Amino acid sequence: MKRLVPLLLIVTLALAGCQGWQSALDAHGPAAHTLANMFWIFVAVLGTVWFLTMAALLLALRRRRPVDADPLVTDPGTEKRMTMTISVAIGLTLVTVITFTGLSYAAQKVLYSHKDGALTLLVTGQQWWWEVTYEDEQPSRVFTTANEIHIPVGEPVLIKLEASDVIHSFWIPNLTGKMDAIPGRQNQIQIQADRPGLYRGQCAEFCGLQHAHMGIVVIADTREDFERWRDHQVSSAIAPNDPERQRGMEIFLSRPCIMCHQVRGTDAGGKVAPDLTHVGSRRTIGAGTLTTTRGNIAAWIVDPHGVKPGVNMPTIQLEPDEVQPLASYLEGLK
Ligand code: CUA
Repeated sequence: MKRLVPLLLIVTLALAGCQGWQSALDAHGPAAHTLANMFWIFVAVLGTVWFLTMAALLLALRRRRPVDADPLVTDPGTEKRMTMTISVAIGLTLVTVITFTGLSYAAQKVLYSHKDGALTLLVTGQQWWWEVTYEDEQPSRVFTTANEIHIPVGEPVLIKLEASDVIHSFWIPNLTGKMDAIPGRQNQIQIQADRPGLYRGQCAEFCGLQHAHMGIVVIADTREDFERWRDHQVSSAIAPNDPERQRGMEIFLSRPCIMCHQVRGTDAGGKVAPDLTHVGSRRTIGAGTLTTTRGNIAAWIVDPHGVKPGVNMPTIQLEPDEVQPLASYLEGLK
């Protein structure tokens, strides 16, 4: 029973890994299906090879030579059989390796042949968040958001990848494989979701202290829902109409917040930190670190380094009675 426990644990973890909102084995897009199929083919073939090798080893261990046999005298029949067996094994190994290489080339073709996209996004990796710009032929329809990507379901979306500081890697396991975001050059990757849903991604290249907290979320909506979302994101922030939020806006606009953050429709035009025009509509703050609630926004403003040590956001000096209005204002930026 004691020996069974680790085995059961491995099987349970493996099965759990096959399902989930951040699992390469729970494929929901053409590229991810290709990669998941490759994985299972490799597991099946290599698993079979392992079992055959172990069986051969056991058979060899069970065979006994007579005690008085002279080790220097060989039997021509046995020699012939052994030569044959080894030749077949080498042949099979070659065939396996060549087949794997062929499969791998075929998968590369699927992964890197980009269809005409419904949408083009420019995603820039930053320490430690993702800047996302939705491109459009009409300049007035271009907008920037952060850490949350909405896409129409069933349509290919082209992602141009850049980085502003160090190398990051864009990875949405349920939808596609990894692609590096490298400073000074542009890489491209295509994502497509087969069905509506939420797919979590993660920076997959060690990029500094908060590499593990560099999450991203892709939300696949129906075309109508996506258009509604995009029309809203294109629009400027709505000015608050209750006194507390109005006070929060005044605090925001009178502090260094506006040096780094942008809220379209106000004087805040900073471009080095996430665009906050619709921050209240996003599911998380701090690139997947905290869910977007008023309390979490307040906690983040008061002590960003406590939540995410090493983060570039400085601690802003605020009076105790200024925190809640400011958090309310930001949370209200739906
Ligand atoms: Cu960005 Cu790891």
